[in-house]
Amino acid sequence: MTHLQRRSVFRASLGPAWRSASAEAIRDAVGGRRVLITGASSGIGRATAVLLARHGAELIVLARRGQLLAALVAQIHAAGGRAEAVPCDLADPEAVAAAIATIGPQPVEIIVNAAGLSIRRSVTELVDRFDTVTRTISANYLGPVRLATGLLPATRSAAHGQLIEISTVTVDLPAPGWSAYAASKTAYDTWLRAAGPELLGDGVAVSSVHLPLVHTAGSAPTYGPRTPGLTADEAAEIIAAVIVRSPRVLIPWWARAGAAGWRLTRPLTDRVAGVLHARAFQRMGRPR
Ligand SMILES: NC(=O)c1ccc[n+]([C@@H]2O[C@H](COP(=O)([O-])OP(=O)(O)OC[C@H]3O[C@@H](n4cnc5c(N)ncnc54)[C@H](OP(=O)(O)O)[C@@H]3O)[C@@H](O)[C@H]2O)c1
Repeated sequence: MTHLQRRSVFRASLGPAWRSASAEAIRDAVGGRRVLITGASSGIGRATAVLLARHGAELIVLARRGQLLAALVAQIHAAGGRAEAVPCDLADPEAVAAAIATIGPQPVEIIVNAAGLSIRRSVTELVDRFDTVTRTISANYLGPVRLATGLLPATRSAAHGQLIEISTVTVDLPAPGWSAYAASKTAYDTWLRAAGPELLGDGVAVSSVHLPLVHTAGSAPTYGPRTPGLTADEAAEIIAAVIVRSPRVLIPWWARAGAAGWRLTRPLTDRVAGVLHARAFQRMGRPR
């Protein structure tokens, strides 16, 4: 079986809730709508921007690397789509305030938060690299929440909108070595759980997509091409289907089952996970 065949089997194994939506349904959901995608300079966010632009979305694409955003906007314009770039470092409160001002008072109907920083470090490594904790919490939680709270008043007054978080199965199965990343993604996930009911009253639906491994520049340093996972284009199709169907959460069945199993067998599973983590870091020549 080739890598690509293995990937499509992996996609199918996620179950029917993860199926794509038809082109017509995507066009109905995003056509002519103002859609903000954060983390659009690469990986999942970029692939989602290209897909939604093809279906008529009026895109605002945000990330730090302005040149990559400009190239994306040029590609979308060349294909007849509509997009504008808003370069912004979500970790910088002033930059987020400036981005909110640039986006302006016209409601953003769909916000897809795909910006994120995933860094694998052991607790020992955090001693000298505590910036891992501050950087991940700023990019994955504080910045996206600051941006959303600035934009949501207009969306709520329009009484129609969606806020979609590109989350991760790490929230369900927080693995050793990923403490900073898992905590920051869980923070946003929990924020959405609490904020969702408040927003629903004003016609704004929230969705949390707990993605499994997706092969991108972000995941490449940790997972080689042989590890079962999705392509960025497959992840984009899933996100488009989430916009169409608006599920509250989308979690792979095996991540739900794994989380339940982990809770039931906790002391033993924690020990096994700790041993596997120590071996993996030893192989990499890094302190566990
Ligand atoms: N790949 C996976 O296996 C996987 C699995 C589950 C969930 N996810 C989630 O999916 C999202 C996208 O990940 P990816 O794999 O596509 O990674 P990626 O290719 O590294 O993309 C990450 C995006 O986030 C942006 N970003 C990072 N820090 C930022 C900041 N401070 N301010 C603004 N933008 C920032 C990056 O743009 P700039 O560098 O230009 O700022 C880039 O566009 C992340 O939230 C990640 O947690 C990924």
